Amino acid sequence: KEVKLWGGRFEESVTDTVEKFTESISFDKALYKQDIMGSRAHATMLASQGLMTDSDRDSILQGLDDIERQIEAGEFVWRTDREDVHMNIEAALTDLIGEPAKKLHTARSRNDQVLTDFRLWCRDAIDTILACIKHLQIALVALAKKNEGLIVPGYTHLQRAQPVLLQHLLLAYVEELERDAGRLLDCRARMNFCPLGACALAGTGLPIDRFMTSDALGFTAPMRNSIDAVSDRDFVLEFLSANSITAIHLSRLGEEWVLWASEEFGFLTPSDSVSTGSSIMPQKKNPDPMELVRGKSARVVGDLVSLLVLCKGLPHAYNRDLQEDKEPVFDSVKTIIGMLKVSAEFAQNITFNRERIQKALPAGHLDATTLADYLVKKGIPFRTSHDIVGRSVALCVSRNCQLQDLNLDQLKTINPVFEEDVYEFLGVENAIKNFSSYGSTGSKCVADQLDYWVQKLDTN
Ligand code: ARG
Repeated sequence: KEVKLWGGRFEESVTDTVEKFTESISFDKALYKQDIMGSRAHATMLASQGLMTDSDRDSILQGLDDIERQIEAGEFVWRTDREDVHMNIEAALTDLIGEPAKKLHTARSRNDQVLTDFRLWCRDAIDTILACIKHLQIALVALAKKNEGLIVPGYTHLQRAQPVLLQHLLLAYVEELERDAGRLLDCRARMNFCPLGACALAGTGLPIDRFMTSDALGFTAPMRNSIDAVSDRDFVLEFLSANSITAIHLSRLGEEWVLWASEEFGFLTPSDSVSTGSSIMPQKKNPDPMELVRGKSARVVGDLVSLLVLCKGLPHAYNRDLQEDKEPVFDSVKTIIGMLKVSAEFAQNITFNRERIQKALPAGHLDATTLADYLVKKGIPFRTSHDIVGRSVALCVSRNCQLQDLNLDQLKTINPVFEEDVYEFLGVENAIKNFSSYGSTGSKCVADQLDYWVQKLDTN
């Protein structure tokens, strides 16, 4: 058995059970690129500070290039007995270049090393997720453009409420996603500070330059407090919280589209390319991708909860428990990217069923609130007009008709204030025309919103 990098004080090697239980190489090899990047910056700094010679640095840089190439070619052998990505790469470098490699871990601990790697990894992951969010926003805006003028029932309590333009609803999703992106950007800015040089927890007496490594790795600045640098996991808690909120948004979208694809609603039809069938019921065509978007949101929330529970009660600074922070983050990132991509693809492959929607519109007295506004415009206090319209609706219910089917005499028996112009407010088209407040579902307001997003997302 090879002596561990930390083997000096040990007389016995660890049991196989302990080795298998404590290893992280099976998952943290995903950090290899960031680990090598960090080592390059560290070696360069050590040389410039006189802590290694330029020639040691050059062999380290060359060796790291070679190792990176081996990893990417699938030739690198990852060894469980070398525990984690950091020791695998350092030990392989020693095998490769000998003595100079032994200087690489000067003024560095795996505690600051792993966090440097992890912050770099998360920073890249955020950039990828941001691109996926934008891609979905663009797909939703394209879907909105395709469905200009289409009025759909708007719901509260899942009961018919008021008519809205479909575009308005689609742009509501776009707004949510924009805040999701904003949260990730905030998180990215707070995350982008460099732990490297914090060493185990206390810093070092060696003359390192933390600003130099921080700059080289594209961080804003080195972290101010070495204990905080190796203890902190709030950057991942924040990241997974942001992902969880995005996942919940996508889950709600998924629920809506699954519902709308049902026979009962029948408002939208996904194309065959985004549907799946049943192994027993030959007629079935199911909106599985969006059901799974709804379902996978559970994992993303679960990943956050795992990390919250992991960190609760941990004393400062590094504890081995923290090795458990990687997998939930990897899972959350992989899952949210999949959810965003499939949602965009679904959006590109659904048709809204105009006829079916049109048929549904007359039911549910969607224009009742517009009628109340009409009475307010005639000078009636809103609470009174609410009551008048309530009684008009009751009349409709008893006659099994819609508000616009009541003639003026019938309306006047409820209240004489009604005049012929009332019919300009009844029916969903008129109701939509009546909306004019900023951010409302009126055609002009929605067209303005759409223009805003087309410009902002730079999509035509
Ligand atoms: N594999 C470890 C982790 O992911 C690296 C840090 C280990 N540090 C230590 N002192 N054992 O957390």
